[in-house]
Amino acid sequence: MDRKVSVAPMMDCTDRHERFFLRLISKNVLLYTEMIVSEAINRGDKKKLLEFNIEEKPVALQVGGSSPKLLAEAAKVGEEFGYDEINLNLGCPSKKVQKNKFGACLIKEPNLVADCLNEMRSATSVPVTVKTRIGYDQVDDYESLYNFISTLKQTGVKTFIIHARKAMLGKFTPKQNLNIPPLKYEMVYNLKKDFQDLEIIINGGITSAQQVIDHLNKVDGAMIGRAVYHSPYLLADIENKIFKNTNVPTREEIIEKLIFYIKNEIKKGTRINQVMRHTLGLFHGQTGASFWKKYLSENMCVRDADVKKIDHIMDKIKTRHTETSVGRID
Ligand SMILES: Cc1cc2nc3c(=O)[nH]c(=O)nc-3n(C[C@H](O)[C@H](O)[C@H](O)COP(=O)(O)O)c2cc1C
Repeated sequence: MDRKVSVAPMMDCTDRHERFFLRLISKNVLLYTEMIVSEAINRGDKKKLLEFNIEEKPVALQVGGSSPKLLAEAAKVGEEFGYDEINLNLGCPSKKVQKNKFGACLIKEPNLVADCLNEMRSATSVPVTVKTRIGYDQVDDYESLYNFISTLKQTGVKTFIIHARKAMLGKFTPKQNLNIPPLKYEMVYNLKKDFQDLEIIINGGITSAQQVIDHLNKVDGAMIGRAVYHSPYLLADIENKIFKNTNVPTREEIIEKLIFYIKNEIKKGTRINQVMRHTLGLFHGQTGASFWKKYLSENMCVRDADVKKIDHIMDKIKTRHTETSVGRID
């Protein structure tokens, strides 16, 4: 599977609608789900949690947990639903996550993590991968990271996604933990030098295709989170510059395709804003981007939406955007 460029798992962001939308822009990037807790997969409504549109593929399911048995079951169910990879979250620093013993606090327990990975690998034939950070609290030296990866490597896991920041457990809010600890890309580059046989994917602070190209000289892949969520059409540049795809749809063509998708989704009970909230940044950096955002914010929450209304809203958006593009508004 090509992991040269992937879109990071993001809670409340990378749901199935966001992934469908991003796949319209990029054929080649690997997409990740939000983290889904293994207990939820075992006890909850599996279909609601895991079902996705085949067009989204390739898609990796990210799971969270620390029970080898429950994680193995989650991996098995994930494969049955058609996911192409099962990823274990060892990077989330939130307090709630720590209380339940999963996410970044598991970096402290490499043997338990190895048990989890062994069980997961036995339960599924799709690749099992890891997403982690370079360290936690005061444990942020290269040797500790090296030892952690060495232990996990023994399970046979081959792909490691490394968010190049440490996690400050219990001290910072999740948002602070995404911004305050400094990015240390060198530590990730060194991992690749020391573990030539592993696939090392770098994550954290990447905002352009050129940065991806620069990282790809040192590691096997780059994962992008917030920059894609806030400016999804960045993926068009990545398609073009990294995958040499000269046939990327325009923003307007993407909206066109989303209309079909929304019409089908509405029949299943989806609300327009559940899809369109992910598209607020589609025109980021373009003339009229603020109009698009404002228009969506005011109109996408219509409760009793029917297909006629959607057509009307979309036609208006498209017309206004075309006007905007030639500079008649703003
Ligand atoms: C809103 C939000 C939700 C996130 N949820 C998850 C998650 O469910 N699982 C995970 O491993 N990381 C999660 N992350 C972290 C991202 O996957 C990524 O590691 C981080 O944002 C750094 O990459 P970036 O600088 O490209 O955004 C989340 C980040 C954000 C902003």
